Amino acid sequence: MRVLGIETSCDECAAAVVENGEIILSNIVMTQIPFHAPWSGVVPEIASRKHIEWIYAVAKEAIEKAGLSVESINAVAVTSSPGLLGSLLVGLTFAKAFAWARNIPYIAVDHMLAHLYAPRLMTDLSNSQFPVPIQKSGYPFLGLLVSGGHTIICKADNFDDITVLGTTIDDAVGEAFDKVAKYYSFGYPGGTVIDKMANYGNSEAFHFPMPSLHKGDHRYDVSYSGLKNAVINQLDLFKKKKNPHTNEDIAASFQKTAVDILLRALFNAAEDTGLTTIVAGGGVAANSYLRSRLSRQTHLHCIFPPIELCGDNGAMIAGIGYQYLARGETSPLNLTASAKVSGFKKKYP
Ligand code: KG4
Ligand code: ZN
Repeated sequence: MRVLGIETSCDECAAAVVENGEIILSNIVMTQIPFHAPWSGVVPEIASRKHIEWIYAVAKEAIEKAGLSVESINAVAVTSSPGLLGSLLVGLTFAKAFAWARNIPYIAVDHMLAHLYAPRLMTDLSNSQFPVPIQKSGYPFLGLLVSGGHTIICKADNFDDITVLGTTIDDAVGEAFDKVAKYYSFGYPGGTVIDKMANYGNSEAFHFPMPSLHKGDHRYDVSYSGLKNAVINQLDLFKKKKNPHTNEDIAASFQKTAVDILLRALFNAAEDTGLTTIVAGGGVAANSYLRSRLSRQTHLHCIFPPIELCGDNGAMIAGIGYQYLARGETSPLNLTASAKVSGFKKKYP
C-alpha cells in the first residue's frame, strides 16, 4: 500500500510517499526558515499562508519523485495534532480533499507519535547503513521525544500504545535552544546553530544550574525555564569587555546542561522500568552531543532516526498512517485539527 503523508503542523511544508509503512519512495520537505528568520521564531500567520501557497506543489513533487501517478496512491495520512492550528488545517484540508476526490481512505495522525515511528522507516534501500527497523517485537521501549514544543519521556508498547512517564513542567528543550540563540543573536533556528557552535566551545566555561524538582513526584520530569533564564541572565556579564569566554563557550555550556537535564530523567526512567532500548525522535534528536552521550551508554540500546528524519517530515506521517490503515482504521471527513497532543495515555501512577 502506497500512502501519501502530509505534514504542515509548524514551519515545514512536507509530503512523502511511503510503501507499506516502511519504505520511503519520496520525501519532500520545504522549509519556511528564511521567512521566519527575521523574527527569530515561527510566525503562525506566515506559516499557514506559506502552507496554502506550497502544499499542492509539494504533494505533487512527492508523487512525481516517487515515480508514481496520482492514481497509484492508495491512501492519505496527515498530521491533525499537535501544532499551530492554522497550519494544521491547511494540510488536513488538503488531505481530505485529495482523499475525497480520489475516493481513497485517509487517516489523521498525531505528530508526536509519528516522530517516535521515524526510526522504523527505511531511507534508502540500496544503502545497507540504514537503521535496522524496529519490528513489532522491538516493543516495549523507552521513547525520548524532544522537539520545539514538546519534551516527553514515555513507554511505547506499540506504535499507538504510548504512556507518558515524564514531561517538561515548563519549556520544551528545543524551545530553550531557540530562545538562548535568539537572545544571544546566534542565528535561527537555534538548535542547529548551537549544536555547531558548541563543537568549538568549552562546555565547562559556565556552570548553569540543574533544576531541583521534587524527587518522588518528578523523577522523569524536566524543566528548562530555569536554565534558559540563567543563560540569558549571563548576557550582560558576558558582554563585558574583559570577559575571557566566547559565544561558543556559552553554546557548549548551555548544551551540556540541557542534555544533562534530559539524560538524568531518561536514565531514572530506564532504571525504574528496566527498559534498555531507547528510541529518540523530534528535532532535538538531531543534536550531535545528545547522540554521542547516548551512544556511550553501553548498557542501553539507543536508536536515533537518520538526521533527515529527526525534524518534521511527511514520511513519518505516511509510515504511522499505514499502520492504522492496515488495521482497517480511517478518519471521518468531519474530523478537525487540535493544537494539543492527542495520542498518549496518561502518566503512570
Ligand atoms: O520536531 P521539530 O522539527 O518541530 C517540532 O515539532 O517542534 O523540532 C524543532 C526543534 C527546534 O526547537 C530546533 O531548534 C530543534 O528542534 N533542533 C535542534 C537541532 N536541530 C533542530 N536542537 C538541538 N540540536 C539540533 N541539532
Ligand atoms: Zn516535530
